[in-house]
Amino acid sequence: MQSGGKILTAYFSWSKNAKALAEQIARESGSDLFEIQCVTPYSNNYNTCVAEALRDQQTNARPALLGSVANMPQYNTLFLCYPNWWESMPMAVFTFLESYDFSGKTIYPLITHGGSRFGKSLKDMQKLCPKTIIGKGLSVSAYDTGSNDSAIVTVPNKDVSLWLRKIGISR
Ligand SMILES: Cc1cc2nc3c(=O)[nH]c(=O)nc-3n(C[C@H](O)[C@H](O)[C@H](O)COP(=O)(O)O)c2cc1C
Repeated sequence: MQSGGKILTAYFSWSKNAKALAEQIARESGSDLFEIQCVTPYSNNYNTCVAEALRDQQTNARPALLGSVANMPQYNTLFLCYPNWWESMPMAVFTFLESYDFSGKTIYPLITHGGSRFGKSLKDMQKLCPKTIIGKGLSVSAYDTGSNDSAIVTVPNKDVSLWLRKIGISR
């Protein structure tokens, strides 16, 4: 962990698994929490959402986001929580990573996935943020049930707590 500065936990989530884990991280690390939300949300219908996400990836889209992080320079360390979408990050996370200067900061990624763990998301993240330290990440299996009503992960998740301890961040 980098010394000094506050910690931010930012997350994007469709069926609330990455959200539940981000909330746990925020509680256990004492960090601020920010939800990455699209101006035009993805469909509540799973199959439609899958198609929309594929279209956005294939067109290398940058969906517009709602709101912004106040005073990003105060954060030296970030947790970034997101679901694996088509082997990478949702394109909204690409927009987020291009919206601020993360040079010299450390990002710890947490991905929820349906089997492909990080996919190529870490490579894509480092490409978007070449001057950012990508810290040790955690992948959590969280295959959704086709509904975005509620998460299937239960919190507190032990692996998350252990990971935070290993990084040296839990309080
Ligand atoms: C648009 C979309 C694309 C997905 N693509 C993948 C994938 O390529 N590999 C994988 O393991 N899981 C994939 N999944 C499953 C998600 O990773 C899983 O639903 C997610 O981790 C749940 O997190 P959430 O509740 O925070 O949205 C996909 C799900 C959606 C909705």
